[in-house]
Amino acid sequence: MKNYDKITSLFKRKGYVWGPSPEIYEGGVAGFYDLGPLGAMLFNNIENTVRAVYFENNYYEIKAPLIMPSKVWEASGHLGGFTDPLTKCTKCGAVFRVDKLIKELHPKEIVDGLTYKEYDKKIEDLSIKCASCKGPLSKTVPQDMMLKTTIGLDEEAYLRPETATTTYLQFKRYYEFFRNKLPFGVYQIGTAFRNEISPRNGLIRKREFTQAEAQLFIFKSDKNKYSEFKDFEKIKLPLLTWKEQDKKGKPKKTSLKEAIKGKIIQNKAYAVSLAVGYQIAMELGLDEKRLRYRQHYPNERAFYALDAWDLEYKTDSFGWVEICGVHDRSDYDLKQHAKYSGKDLRVKHGRKKEVPHILEIAAGIERLVFTVLEQAYDEEKRRTVLRLLPSIAPIQLKIFPLVSKDGLPEKAKNVYELMLNEDFFAEYDESGSIGRRYRRADEEGVPFCITIDHDTLEDESVTVRDRDTMKQVRVKINELEDFLEEAIEGDIDF
Ligand code: ATP
Ligand code: GLY
Repeated sequence: MKNYDKITSLFKRKGYVWGPSPEIYEGGVAGFYDLGPLGAMLFNNIENTVRAVYFENNYYEIKAPLIMPSKVWEASGHLGGFTDPLTKCTKCGAVFRVDKLIKELHPKEIVDGLTYKEYDKKIEDLSIKCASCKGPLSKTVPQDMMLKTTIGLDEEAYLRPETATTTYLQFKRYYEFFRNKLPFGVYQIGTAFRNEISPRNGLIRKREFTQAEAQLFIFKSDKNKYSEFKDFEKIKLPLLTWKEQDKKGKPKKTSLKEAIKGKIIQNKAYAVSLAVGYQIAMELGLDEKRLRYRQHYPNERAFYALDAWDLEYKTDSFGWVEICGVHDRSDYDLKQHAKYSGKDLRVKHGRKKEVPHILEIAAGIERLVFTVLEQAYDEEKRRTVLRLLPSIAPIQLKIFPLVSKDGLPEKAKNVYELMLNEDFFAEYDESGSIGRRYRRADEEGVPFCITIDHDTLEDESVTVRDRDTMKQVRVKINELEDFLEEAIEGDIDF
C-alpha cells in the first residue's frame, strides 16, 4: 500500500476523488465515489483518449439504455450466472470476496480459476480467518452481482453489469448501417453496475463504474483471415499464458506474428484486439514495465468466453490490477439473444446464413484514472508533483502575473484570454508568492506555467516553465500557441 494514504489525501485535497459517497451521510457507502473538478476533467480526457483509440481502429460509437428487462439478462446468462465467490465470518458477519482475500494476505498464491472447494481448502491450509475479528470463515458461496430495479409498476429489470450485452441487441441495425458486410466494430462508453462484495479499493472496485467496451462482429472463418493483422503483426505484447502462470513464470514479450505461429493466440482478429487494448495503455503513458497480458485459466473464463486475456497493471497500492479484459465471446451472445427473443440473428455468409462471433475489448475508465494518477504521483525533496502526460492533464496551463501590480495582472489576463481562445485548458492565478503558485500547479499536475513579468511589457515575451524539469524558457507571445502545442505533444526538450 506504498503511498496509498498520501495519494488519496492529495486526491481529496486537490479535488480529484471524493468519497465514499454520499460522504455527509454516515461516511457514505462503499464502492461509490465522486470525482471533483480536476478528477472529472482527467476522467473526460482519459475517456476521450480511449474513444480516439477505438475510433482510429474503425470502431463506431453507440449508446444503449442502462436498464434492461430480466429477459435480456436471462438470455445473456448474467441472471443467476454472474456471481463472485463469497465467504462470511461466522462470528461477526463480515463478508469477503474469497479470491481477493487470499491474494491480499498471500500475494504469491495462485487464486485464479479455482473451484469453490479449492478456495475452501486454501482458506483451511493457509489458516485464513476473518480480516475484521479473526473469527472462522464460512464455506465459499456464490454472491449474485446483479442490481435489481422495477420498470413501471411491476416489470422486473436489472441495471446492466456490463455495457457489452446492451451493445449486442442491435446487431441487425448495425448490419444494415454497415451495408450488410462483416466484419465491423462498434463500441460503447457508459456506466455499468455490480453489487461487488465489500469493495475496499477505492476507484479500483466500484459498484457503479464506467466501461469502454469495443465489439468486433466477425464470421468464425474470418477470424484467422483478418487483413488488418498485417499492420499489427510486429507489435510485441508482454504475454503470460495460463500454463506459464502455473509454473510461476514471467510474461514474455512476444510479437503477434510469433504468438499466432506458436498458437499462443488463437486467431489474427483476436490478436489485433489485444493490440488495441494495449494501445490504450500506451496512449495514456502507462509504464510498459508495469504491464502484462495474463491469460485466463480455462476454468477462470466468464461463461461466454472461448479465450480471455486481462491487461494488468502493477499498482504500488494493490499489486496487479486488471485494467482491460479482452474476450473471444464466440457466437454465444447472439445465439442466446436469438433464442430468447425469437428473432433470427443470422446473416448471409456466402450461401449460408450464420451468426457471427464477437471479439471484445473491455476497458474500465476508473481503473485507468487510478493507475494514471498513481503512476503520476511523485514526491521530491521540496515538492509533490503529479507527472500526468500533458495530453491528459486536466489543466494544461496556468497563467501568472509575477506580482499583482504594475499592470502585470492586466497583461496576464490578456494572455489568459488568448490561451482560452486557442482552446487550451488554462487557469489564471495571482494569489500567493510565485513559488507557492508553482508548487500548487505541480500538485495539480499542470504541465506548463506561463509567467508574465516586467520584461513582458517591454518585449512581448513570457516565461514558460516545464513542470517535470522545472526549467524555464522565454517565448514570444505571438509564438506561444505553436510552442505550447508542440510542448503538449512532448516535442519540446526543456
Ligand atoms: P476483477 O476480477 O478485478 O473483478 P473483472 O474480471 O470482473 O475484474 P471484467 O468483468 O473483465 O472485470 O470487466 C471489464 C473491465 O471493467 C475491467 O477490466 C475493469 O477495468 C472494469 N471493472 C470491472 N469491475 C469493476 C469495478 N468493480 N470497478 C471499477 N472497474 C471495474
Ligand atoms: N463485457 C465484459 C465484462 O464486463 O467483463
